[in-house]
Order: sequence, then C-alpha cells, then structure tokens
Amino acid sequence: MDLYEYQARDLFEKYEVPVLAGIVADTPDQVRAAAEKLGGVVVVKAQVKTGGRGKAGGVKVAKTPDEAYEAAKAILGLDIKGHVVKRVMVAAGARIAKEYYFSVLLDRANRSYLSLCSVEGGMEIEQLAVEKPEALARIDVNPGTGIDKAKAVEIAEAAGFDPELVDKVSDVFVKLYNVYKSEDATLVEVNPLILSEDGEIIALDGKVTLDDNAEFRHPGHALLEDASATDPLEAKAKENDLNYVKLDGEVGIIGNGAGLVMSTLDVVAYAGENHGGVKPANFLDIGGGASAEVMAAGLDVILGDPQVKSVFVNVFGGITACDAVAKGIVGALAELGSTASKPLVVRLDGNRVEEGRKILQDANHPLVTLAATMDEGADKAAELANA
Ligand SMILES: Nc1ncnc2c1ncn2[C@@H]1O[C@H](COP(=O)(O)OP(=O)(O)OP(=O)(O)O)[C@@H](O)[C@H]1O
Ligand SMILES: [Mg+2]
Repeated sequence: MDLYEYQARDLFEKYEVPVLAGIVADTPDQVRAAAEKLGGVVVVKAQVKTGGRGKAGGVKVAKTPDEAYEAAKAILGLDIKGHVVKRVMVAAGARIAKEYYFSVLLDRANRSYLSLCSVEGGMEIEQLAVEKPEALARIDVNPGTGIDKAKAVEIAEAAGFDPELVDKVSDVFVKLYNVYKSEDATLVEVNPLILSEDGEIIALDGKVTLDDNAEFRHPGHALLEDASATDPLEAKAKENDLNYVKLDGEVGIIGNGAGLVMSTLDVVAYAGENHGGVKPANFLDIGGGASAEVMAAGLDVILGDPQVKSVFVNVFGGITACDAVAKGIVGALAELGSTASKPLVVRLDGNRVEEGRKILQDANHPLVTLAATMDEGADKAAELANA
C-alpha cells in the first residue's frame, strides 16, 4: 500500500524524523483556516498517490490565508495523471538552502535492501539516474544490520555531503531506516530532504510503501487505507478474505483455486467470441473452503457489479466436496433472496460430484443452470450474458 504524503509525514514524526507542521484540508475554507493557524508562508500541496505534483500545478506557495484559499481552489479537483485531487496538505513554508534526495528500498533482484542518496535534489530521481548517474550514490544495505550510524555515515559520504553536515544528516537516515524497518515498508523516499537556511535537515516530502504481506503485524495500517479510493466491491471482497479482481467484461466468474480461476477466464473469453464478444467481468477465487457463507459473500460481490450479466461458478471438489459446495450455492441464493437476479451457470466436478449435482437439481432454482463440463458452462454463461 502506498501512503499519501501527509500519512508519510505523520509516520516520520512518530519516529522523530524532522518534518514541518502540516494540516490536511478538503475545502478552500478549511485551507484558509489551516493557513491562519500555521501563520506565515504556507505551501498548499495536492495529496495524490502519484509523483510530479509540483510540475502539474499541485504544489503552490501562499503568503497569506487568502492566497492559500485561492491556491486550494486551483488545486482541489485538479487531475494529476488520472488522479483527481480531493484533499490537500497545508504545510508550513520552509526556507530552503539546499535540496537532497534519500531513499531506502527493497531490492528484490539482489534479495537485499538498497539506499539511494544524492546531494543533487530538486530534480526527479529517474531523470537524475539517467542524466547524472554519478551524482546518485547506490549503497547496498544488509537487511540483517540495516542502516546503523556507521552505515548512515557511509551513505552520506558516498553521496558527497559536506563533511560538517555528515553527522547531522546521518542521524536522519538512521531515523528514516527505523520507519522502514519498524513499519515493514518496502520503500521510504524523501525528495526533497532539505537543509534549511537556519541549518536544519528536514524531510519536506515523503513517499512510503508498506508491505501488505506484513499487515498482520500492524493492526494500525488498516486505518491508513483509503476506503474512498479503492473499488467498493474490492473492499467488500477483502473484508471477506476473497481474492477478487474487477475486470471489464460481462461474465462474473467464481472458482476455487487461482489456477482454475485463471483457466476459467481463458475459456470464458474464448467462448465469448461466439457470443457477441462478451468477456470475463472479474477474477474471484473463493479458495479451499467453499462454504455457504463464502459462496454468499462471493456471489454478493459479483452480483453487486452492474456490468455483470451472468455468472459462471466453476468448482473442482477436493478437500471441500462438491455436495458441500452445492449446499453453499443453494444456501447463498436463499440468503441473497431477490438480490440474486442474474443467471448462474454451475459446473461441478471432483469429489462427491454426483451428490453435489443432485442437490442443485433438487433445489431447482430458476436462476441456476447445470453444466457438465467447463467448456459447456463457459459457453452457456457467455450465451446468457449476451442474451
Ligand atoms: N513546505 C515547503 N516549503 C517550501 N517549499 C516547499 C515545501 N514543500 C515543497 N516545497 C517545494 O516544492 C517542490 C516540490 O514539492 P514536493 O517534492 O513535495 O512535490 P513534487 O516533487 O512535485 O511531488 P512528488 O514528490 O510527488 O513528485 C520541492 O522540491 C520544494 O522546492
Ligand atoms: Mg517530491
């Protein structure tokens, strides 16, 4: 999960990384109030999860609360690379003497950590890496020992910091590494890290990516998630521990096991060619235990997608036998009642398949069609979606 700048700022503050005061605001009036509260020069900054905000007009200096109000009017609603600005951060204005770059990240290719650092700030790092690679220090960081004071000094010296700044800036690197390690981040980037006119090192803009696989260790991270920005169906699926990916087509797909779901996508797309070009509407893996609750949650998510015209349930009974899955489907349809309004094609195979088919036949639900094979099911589902 990528964090917004203001969330990164708050995390930095928790680990005593020097930052400036910042207040988030969602309206120009709130921005004016925030600017009054901070006093003096402020910077109004778009909060979007993409880079290059400054160039896109998403970062504006304001000398008075009225100027901040005008800046907010210009920034809120702005489209930055497809991200519409809904929130800004009003940050205290810094008097910048020098801009630097620092990051620490997971280096997957080398199964290690890597720190990048440069005294040539202000430029986009990708551009710097191409145009002036010698100005960007790349220092391997051993995940076992991390960035301790000695490593931080090595990074500062390699980047070419003035000797009298090395001690001060390396302290900040150690603190930034604490954020990286303690929060299970895969990226902590500060661009720019600045030297202020009164000699302070301050993190002026932070980017943090948290490792979702470590979420279980950080109950607090869930609160950082932006519910308004994630697809509501994906959020609902996540609540129910379902692996759901929304796609663009019309045939909803439910399967158990990622391999089966992936091949179902292919078969449905292929069948769709004979039925007006309909395509899979999603990827939904209900995993091993296809109980009534799991099936109901899965169907609920898929039927909530207005683009879905039909659903193909393709389950291979293993440890969870087909009769349990069939009971799950019948139970789910009963639970959903009139919310379930789209035709369902069900193909069962594997453990206790005869018993499973019998349960569905006996239930004789008007929306359910049984298919004997995967190809037949895909064809039927595509046909129904195109009807
Ligand atoms: N609080 C501040 N006070 C003074 N100047 C600031 C402040 N915040 C940002 N700036 C100036 O604006 C420039 C751009 O800001 P920032 O790095 O936050 O945005 P960006 O680099 O355009 O966005 P991104 O990092 O998302 O690409 C900085 O390099 C700095 O010169
Ligand atoms: Mg920046």
